[in-house]
Amino acid sequence: MAMSEKIKEIYKKKVISVDDAVKMVKSDTDVVCALAAAEPKLFMRKLYSVKDKVKDVSVLTCLPMEAYDFYTKEDALGHFYHEGWFYTGPMRNASQSINSFVTNHLHMAGTDRLSYRKPHIFAGTATPPDKNGYMSLSLSATYEVDMLENADIVILEVNEKFPRTFGDTIIHISQVHHIIEADYDVPEIPIPPVSAEDKTIAGFIAPMIENGSTVQLGIGGIPNAIGANLTTLKDIGIHTEMLTEGMVDLFEAGVLNGKRKTLLPGKMVCTFALGNKKLYDFIDNNPGVVINRGKWVNDPYVIAQNYKQISINTALEIDLSGQVCSESIGSVQFSGTGGQADTAIGAQRSIGGKSFIALYSTASVKDAKGVRKPISKIVPMLKEGGRVTLHRANVEYVVTEHGIVRLKGLSVRERAKKLITIAHPDFRDMLTEEAKKLKFI
Ligand code: COA
Repeated sequence: MAMSEKIKEIYKKKVISVDDAVKMVKSDTDVVCALAAAEPKLFMRKLYSVKDKVKDVSVLTCLPMEAYDFYTKEDALGHFYHEGWFYTGPMRNASQSINSFVTNHLHMAGTDRLSYRKPHIFAGTATPPDKNGYMSLSLSATYEVDMLENADIVILEVNEKFPRTFGDTIIHISQVHHIIEADYDVPEIPIPPVSAEDKTIAGFIAPMIENGSTVQLGIGGIPNAIGANLTTLKDIGIHTEMLTEGMVDLFEAGVLNGKRKTLLPGKMVCTFALGNKKLYDFIDNNPGVVINRGKWVNDPYVIAQNYKQISINTALEIDLSGQVCSESIGSVQFSGTGGQADTAIGAQRSIGGKSFIALYSTASVKDAKGVRKPISKIVPMLKEGGRVTLHRANVEYVVTEHGIVRLKGLSVRERAKKLITIAHPDFRDMLTEEAKKLKFI
């Protein structure tokens, strides 16, 4: 839909170069960037160039997809601080003096930050305006609209290649101060292959999902694989934090239609989309997909309005009392809390809802000599400094390739005994011994 002459004129006046955009960054202020595939790459790549002109700039991101110089170069320290709502590989590999985790439940991320301070600059991505001047923030409304509404300066990279999506992503050009024209491809992530363990885990969960349920699938290999194994179900709906290509496959297989959803029936609801070209083509101009603000989509009270809401997430480790760590390896931040607690609690509050933590029983981890060895992901105690992502009182089903157990209402003794039954057989004796030492059993 081409811009009208009037909108074209307004648009042209707002176009600036990326060099001019980064010159607006001021010392002692916050810059907030859009999330994951919606991140403003040109702006973020150029930020480092103003390093010597600024100090104490906080750049707040979520799921950054590239190793940008402003947080990977050691000499950026003091000029920039990178605050992250969710770590990714490039952030994990960068200096941790520059990087710092912002604790959050995803549905509160924007609100909590805004209660602390407002951004000087919000930088994101968008589709070109339509004839009436409406633009789409495309791939995410998680916190982007809230930040855009509160920032002194709004800068958007306008890119025709980005899908035009509906929901809270729609904003008006009058809300935008500056536009950087961009033409890079939409960032994609690889689809993890489905392993034999994934299929076994999916085999435990699939029979527990009834036709007509609404499903949330979390981040990581296992939730993806489970999605791929739900093909025998009917009338499934989607209310999820992250929309993935696996959900498009289910739509194409006739599994998804959302017709029995009790909240926004017929619509696939999410707060951001991340995947491959197939996903991006599917959501482009698709009124069946609604991308709404994270503070609404991920609010457990909203999630619970879906009848039979199913939440499936994964974890790095779980202790014998049921505490789930999904975001750190010991004290080292690995990813983020994201919407794990939001979605688990929401599903448990939904009539007929269920929540699952699905994890492999072991992980292959390098020892001090660099040799990979299997370790149990079901552990007597979380590693020292391990962060609790999902409180043990909020854990319902736990699934590994060795079985499925339900922890709700159980004592620590009962929990420990049940969790040991789904641990890898090689570790069950060790876990039993440790549980005795801890006086759990
Ligand atoms: N101890 C040490 N290392 C471990 C481990 C443990 N207990 N468990 C896993 N690892 C290692 C793996 O070996 C792997 O290392 P490698 O890359 O060297 O092979 C790495 O950690 C990642 O493990 P993997 O199982 O492949 O992770 P994933 O990509 O499937 O992601 C989570 C899993 C838990 C990190 C991810 O789901 C997450 O961040 N969750 C929190 C947020 C969330 O659930 N959001 C849901 C709402 S959308």
